[in-house]
Amino acid sequence: MNHYFKPKYECAIRILLAKLEVINAELSIELSRTVITGMSGRLKTWESIEKKAARKGYGKADEKALAAICDIAGVRAVCAYMDDVYRVAKALQKHQDLRIVRIKDYLKMPKSSGYRSLHLIIRFTTDDLKDITAEIQLRTIALDFWACLDHQLRYKRGKQEAGLIGEELREYSSVVADLDRKMVELRNRIAAI
Ligand code: GTP
Ligand code: MG
Repeated sequence: MNHYFKPKYECAIRILLAKLEVINAELSIELSRTVITGMSGRLKTWESIEKKAARKGYGKADEKALAAICDIAGVRAVCAYMDDVYRVAKALQKHQDLRIVRIKDYLKMPKSSGYRSLHLIIRFTTDDLKDITAEIQLRTIALDFWACLDHQLRYKRGKQEAGLIGEELREYSSVVADLDRKMVELRNRIAAI
């Protein structure tokens, strides 16, 4: 495998971020509040691509590995409220130049770590980016806060103290999800005044 693949994935990231900007602008006008509070994109490092390819059983020179890794291009949008996460996902579904090939709803079915997020695996359908895939992660500010700390803990997993902290963090994941639900409820009550 070589690095020739990079420009297309970089382009995919820019297009997705631009789409999210437009979705944010439109929804923010419609709902009179900021819907996406932050977004970012990243290209998976070559080292990480090789590791994942090996994990999936591909040899170092295997071109097929690129197609099998869905998150070489990754973007993340962070929303204030839980219901906005689904609004953004719904808006993305309307885009004709991409197809959502998989939805991983870790909001409805959290991971065993406690991780909650909505992941969309998309594939571009236009000629220039045909079959380029990307992963879009959508979650709330509160869940993003949680995921950041969990990410820190990931590097320590396997160590004794990390196990206990992991347990505690998993509990907080439900606390965060409860808070997210309450905030939507409260926002609706405030809007109704
Ligand atoms: P990889 O985890 O990327 O090998 O593939 P997968 O098929 O398991 O995809 P999944 O959607 O589960 O996870 C993809 C990405 O979601 C990861 O690269 C992380 O960014 C994020 N993620 C998944 N699980 C966790 C978790 O337990 N904690 C945190 N902080 N992030 C997670
Ligand atoms: Mg994973």
